[in-house]
Amino acid sequence: MAVTVNKIREMKEKGEKIVMLTAYDYSTAKIVDEVGVPLILVGDSLGMVMLGYDSTLPVTIEEMLHHTRAVVRGVKNAMVIGDMPFMTYHLSTEQAMRNAGRFIQETGCQAVKLEGGVTVAEKVKRIVECGIPVCGHIGMTPQSRLQFGGFKIQGKTLEVASRMIEDARALEAAGAFAVVLETVPTALATLITRKINIPTIGIGAGESCDGQVQVINDVIGSFADFVPKHAKQYAKVSEVIRKAVTEYYNETRAGTFPTDAQGFKMDESILKGLE
Ligand code: KIV
Repeated sequence: MAVTVNKIREMKEKGEKIVMLTAYDYSTAKIVDEVGVPLILVGDSLGMVMLGYDSTLPVTIEEMLHHTRAVVRGVKNAMVIGDMPFMTYHLSTEQAMRNAGRFIQETGCQAVKLEGGVTVAEKVKRIVECGIPVCGHIGMTPQSRLQFGGFKIQGKTLEVASRMIEDARALEAAGAFAVVLETVPTALATLITRKINIPTIGIGAGESCDGQVQVINDVIGSFADFVPKHAKQYAKVSEVIRKAVTEYYNETRAGTFPTDAQGFKMDESILKGLE
């Protein structure tokens, strides 16, 4: 059965940990879905790990729609969440609703995510009123990295921590079905998780969140530029790729690839007719 917002709500009620993982392409999404991950986020992090930008700011809606479509084609059960990129919901409520609608209509995903709390609450409310599930995202929101002065932990002062609690409450009141807490102190994430009724999904926010989200490239070790402190590499896929590419390169140069096993035969008589 396909995952719905009701299922996610039910998981929180039962105290079942909610797993969210990013995916950006058909083949990876298929594996993530087959494992049983209920929430697949096509994060704008793809700008960094797939497209090589140095932040998520240059990512366009067309790039997001393209990758979200590919992920949707690979998924049978999970809920696919499209991440609204920078400046696609900031200008007006109408712009936010129109672009959230594009994700649903043009990709077939089942929900959208956007960054911000109190300042985007009205937009979240109106998108939800259109029938589109919304996941919130507060804490170290990468689209505000210029404002934060880098990818810095958020919520260590009374002022910022209190504002974050208000942000979480505003998202819940606006109808968000879950909220991502990114790079915030564990104790604050614990408090927010206690203070709201929708699931909190942490990334660098400790173990007490209702669920966890990670970037797939960090989990499988395919992004070699850097490993964030909150990530755990369960494999070193970049090394597997390097080894395979090196062997292919060496064998091709040496003339030992391809062999008969990779070739195709044709009828001898036809060949003779060609000579
Ligand atoms: O873009 C992304 O992958 C995200 C997650 C890290 C939450 O926003």
